Amino acid sequence: MKPVEIKPNIFWVGAIDWNVRDFHGYSTYKGTTYNAYLIKDKKIALFDTVKKSHTSELLHHITQVLDPEKIDYLIINHVEMDHSGSLPEMVERIKPEKIFCSKMGKKAIMDHFHPTDWPLVEVSSGDSISLGEKTIQFLETRMLHWPDSMFSYLPGDKLLISSDAFGQHFATSERFDDEVNHTELMEQTAKYYANILTLYSPLVRKLLKNVRELGLEIDMIAPDHGLIWRSHIGDVLAAYDKWSQHQGQRKALVIYDTMWESTHKMAKAVANGINMEGVSVKLLNLAVNHRSDVMTDVLDAKAVILGSATLNNGLLPRMAGFLMYMRGLRPTNKIGAAFGSYGWSGEAVKLMNEAMAEMKFDIIEEGLRWKYVPNHDGLRECVEMGRRIGRAVKEQTDG
Ligand code: FEO
Repeated sequence: MKPVEIKPNIFWVGAIDWNVRDFHGYSTYKGTTYNAYLIKDKKIALFDTVKKSHTSELLHHITQVLDPEKIDYLIINHVEMDHSGSLPEMVERIKPEKIFCSKMGKKAIMDHFHPTDWPLVEVSSGDSISLGEKTIQFLETRMLHWPDSMFSYLPGDKLLISSDAFGQHFATSERFDDEVNHTELMEQTAKYYANILTLYSPLVRKLLKNVRELGLEIDMIAPDHGLIWRSHIGDVLAAYDKWSQHQGQRKALVIYDTMWESTHKMAKAVANGINMEGVSVKLLNLAVNHRSDVMTDVLDAKAVILGSATLNNGLLPRMAGFLMYMRGLRPTNKIGAAFGSYGWSGEAVKLMNEAMAEMKFDIIEEGLRWKYVPNHDGLRECVEMGRRIGRAVKEQTDG
């Protein structure tokens, strides 16, 4: 790959990680990119670095534009290791005049790398610096998704460098949104939102409002992962607006794990009942669906119906792990219900109900347990439960 001039004298110089398949528990089947941006002006600035393993790729790209040692400023929008891993080596090599970061960014840099003599300069929302022709304005985006996170905005270029926001884990040889399949791009953008930002949706809403009120003119959004937005900015802003409201569509998920197929039979019957009411339904067996893909479906589903057999007085481990993951991301505004087969104690339904209650799901059923293997009567009860759920979904998504 080579550097790409995304605006006059502004270059993508990041790295492409084609092989990464796990990102702290998020399945990255499409790999990812660690984007870094280089500005050539009177002062030369580099925005963010890359994961430590990809330092040589970053240097290779920068070198094709200019000698890295000519870089004057490092601008650290985010300190998570996928963007800062190569920072110590870059500082050593570049010996920058200044390293700009937020107040929380400075703390995070100190806690990660323990430098004693780096020229760290704190900036806050509203601060700006001049590179010569180009000006950079800073906008702190605390907790989106780390305390240190911030955006950099170049008014002259109408360019927003947005750190993790609006990113996707999507490795491609292309750099722009209009060069790839749009459906796939939006799917990867949704997966990123669902697995990284769902928890911070109230802050996303505040940020979108803030950006609107500041009246920033934006004709390009350059995130730290994936494709750069230039032709579909309206789509990604509208999607963030929609996702951050947690408004489910007329769609239900039946998410389950099974021991000896009884809970699987119940799941199919519940799903059939939901679908009989004209509601779109997905059957998601946790044995074959990765939790991060399931969370992408949770993003726009109105109902999240959980099924697990009881194992050793508890949940099947995949369901327990999924609940732990989903609880951390805190989706809201969902209809919930639980079901599962059991042999003698049957705690699974109660445990799933408790987890959903903690997430403030609207639990519309007390839950359906069936001893060992469901017969026709048992499956009929599952279908009836599904129909009641389907009707509730319709009521809550009508109008
Ligand atoms: Fe891409 Fe929060 O790091």
